[in-house]
Amino acid sequence: MSSPTRPKKLIIAVDGPAGAGKSTIARLVAKRMNFLYLDTGAMYRALTLKALRKAVDISNAVQLTRLAKNTRIDLENNPDGSIKVLLDNEDVSTNIRKPEITKFVSDVAKVEGVRKEMLHLQRRFGLRSSCVLDGRDIGTVVFPNADRKFFLDAEFKTRVSRRHKELKDSREAVTAEEVKKDLKNRDTIDSNRECAPLKKAPDALYVDTTKMTIEEVVDTLLKHIRVRANRHNRPNGYG
Ligand code: CDP
Repeated sequence: MSSPTRPKKLIIAVDGPAGAGKSTIARLVAKRMNFLYLDTGAMYRALTLKALRKAVDISNAVQLTRLAKNTRIDLENNPDGSIKVLLDNEDVSTNIRKPEITKFVSDVAKVEGVRKEMLHLQRRFGLRSSCVLDGRDIGTVVFPNADRKFFLDAEFKTRVSRRHKELKDSREAVTAEEVKKDLKNRDTIDSNRECAPLKKAPDALYVDTTKMTIEEVVDTLLKHIRVRANRHNRPNGYG
């Protein structure tokens, strides 16, 4: 029998467009709470890498769905808070961040059959332990009953310069103009697709990170999570 004071598992959903700071923030929040972190975008990226390697036609939903059904994707949390992405047991953590993957990932992620496969994996992961998941549809579709939902956003110009700096830091030779084009293209596909489009869940807290430091955003999320966690752990349940 479970003790009434035993902490409940918590699911924290962090959604938003590229460059809003989701993965940095979600990773740090997970570390501070000692929760698992699941970067759901990494799963779509891993499948895109496999599709390109196998020369699968990216516009063919049937082939992409078949590929998704026959692919094993695992995510592991490294002790430093970063994640290891395994594609059919191969570590692809670095390869999936390459611009050629980024270019096609939204076309792969818009396929309903692909999303269905990823949804199963993401929900299974969420059942393991308390966790923070970041993506586009976590609060709306994957975990509509998440304990806390956040929608991180930032002005387009800020998102472009953050992503450009990130890529330069990892020695990718891309121009600001290319980054701008990529973000615009992905924003459009991710927000307008029929299946699980990027949108704020009505009960998500909207956080505009444009003028905030990483620490400020992390603190904002932690404050809201802790209020909820304390309520859960009261002996008589929800406060
Ligand atoms: O880090 P960044 O915001 O550039 O993207 P990501 O989180 O790695 O996600 C890459 C792409 O995967 C997004 O542009 C979406 O097309 C797709 N994605 C999705 O459709 N649903 C999710 N839950 C996560 C990512």
